Amino acid sequence: MSANIEKFIIGLPKAELHLHLEGSLEPEQMFEFAGRNKIDIPFKSIDEVKKAYEFSQLQDFLDIYYTGMNVLQTEQDFYDLTANYLRKVASENTKHVEVFFDPQGHTERGVEFKTAVTGIHNALREVGGELGVTSKLIMCFLRHLDEASAVATLEDAAPFKHMIMGVGLDSSELGHPPSKFERVFGLAKEQGYKLVAHAGEEGPVEYIYEALDLLRVDRIDHGNRCMDDPKLVARIAEEKIALTICPLSNLKLCVVDDMSDHPMKKMLDAGLIATINSDDPSYFGGYMNDNYLSTAKALGLSIDDLIQLARNGFIGSFLEQDEIDGYLAQIDDYVAEFNS
Ligand code: ADE
Ligand code: ZN
Repeated sequence: MSANIEKFIIGLPKAELHLHLEGSLEPEQMFEFAGRNKIDIPFKSIDEVKKAYEFSQLQDFLDIYYTGMNVLQTEQDFYDLTANYLRKVASENTKHVEVFFDPQGHTERGVEFKTAVTGIHNALREVGGELGVTSKLIMCFLRHLDEASAVATLEDAAPFKHMIMGVGLDSSELGHPPSKFERVFGLAKEQGYKLVAHAGEEGPVEYIYEALDLLRVDRIDHGNRCMDDPKLVARIAEEKIALTICPLSNLKLCVVDDMSDHPMKKMLDAGLIATINSDDPSYFGGYMNDNYLSTAKALGLSIDDLIQLARNGFIGSFLEQDEIDGYLAQIDDYVAEFNS
């Protein structure tokens, strides 16, 4: 890859639409929080943690991800976690983020909904404000739990509705189809939440149809498997449903065998609003720029492809149209300056 493309990616204004805050917990912070909260973790050193990050499928990762999040106990922990992530993305010229958290991953172990949401919200507002990074917050239901637990979580969220833009669906995909959550997504839609769901990461194309037809999502998280079904690709393009694709995550979780097999270029060529995101950057070896760089390198993406990807990040966001237009103008200005 030319040094020019690398430089272009680094300065490009970007949006991240698929990021689990708990997946941005760096090993150093895991030890810091474990120490201050007196929580036992099954690792003796940062090196040992990093060595454990070898996965052959989604569940391998999830087991470690849920262990890692045990260190998050206080509002300050959630604040510091979010602040650390924001500082990192700001340094990479990511201008807008729409981030997930997993309330049930915390309430199930005795940490209150309020503790997590307040810490995250305050950091997004204060630190995001200082750094000039705008944000939206999305709470995800854990699909390996039952729908009643998701409904209870939606009820927990009611007093904090002004802090939360949308609801999502994550965790173990296979065996937990979107149809399991039709009722709670219906309730969330009635309450005015935006809707997203992980679908077609490991799961089959039918799960993407269910997310669209039963959950009535505004955006699909991952969605890689749509490429198995040309009719579905045409529909997603026609309906302008954005896909939040996570290239390094796909590689680490063996959704693709090699980055050169990644469908990103085919997605762009099919007219999909495909976006680049980092998913769980601390576990998958890279934040936004690493995801852009590795995809560009493996697939030989052009400057025009990269501009389209960055534009898609804002176009697929839950920002208001005038805000999207403002960010697209920033991309135009950047490109004009880069070429001058
Ligand atoms: N939770 C965190 N990251 C996830 C992913 N990539 N898929 C499903 N659930 C997740
Ligand atoms: Zn994800």
